[in-house]
Amino acid sequence: MERIICLVIGYVFGLFQTGYIYGRIKHVDIRTSGSGNAGTTNALRVLGKKAGIITFIGDVIKAVVAGLLTRLVFHGSDIDITVLLLYTGIGVVLGHNFPFYLNFKGGKGIAATGGIVISLLDWRLILIGLVTFIVVIAVTKYVSLGSLSLVTGFVIEFILFVQMKWYSLGNAFKIEAYLLVLVIAALAYFQHRGNIVRLINKSENKFGQKKEGL
Ligand code: G3P
Repeated sequence: MERIICLVIGYVFGLFQTGYIYGRIKHVDIRTSGSGNAGTTNALRVLGKKAGIITFIGDVIKAVVAGLLTRLVFHGSDIDITVLLLYTGIGVVLGHNFPFYLNFKGGKGIAATGGIVISLLDWRLILIGLVTFIVVIAVTKYVSLGSLSLVTGFVIEFILFVQMKWYSLGNAFKIEAYLLVLVIAALAYFQHRGNIVRLINKSENKFGQKKEGL
């Protein structure tokens, strides 16, 4: 039951579409401009730097707040808090990517995934994720590649940290937690399927380019 409640808490928080709301205030539906994605990269592309920063912060914070609420509500639960945080995280990504009130067309869940990593409160995972994201984008100029590197790295680092006992997780919950981080990564890959095709075709938009019809 706790797991389902976490998914629901997460989904509700994920529904707060920062980029879409900011765009609406500016009379633009960012889901019909640029790449059509209701996330940071497209807010930046379509509405500018300020919109990109606000969208990123809003989308990260909603996952962090959902995580904090999970910690508050389920403090002392028999289920390992990391597992519950990951259920909440999946809920946030689902709410962000598939908001029912926007015909299930939202963003790609990367800022929200960043917020999930933050909510685990392990500075090493946060730092590695941040560095991976920034370095890949700085070198390749592809935000989507930075995003996919971030989530792929998160899966590897999480499993490594748990296996090496650098991150504490009850033995009985390991497999479940591994599956949950894989689900988070699978959701990111699914949302980036178009980007992946464009990366392979070498037609992906580079950071800083303003291109329609992606
Ligand atoms: O976080 C989204 C990013 O990875 C790609 O966004 O708009 O270029 O598809 P976009």
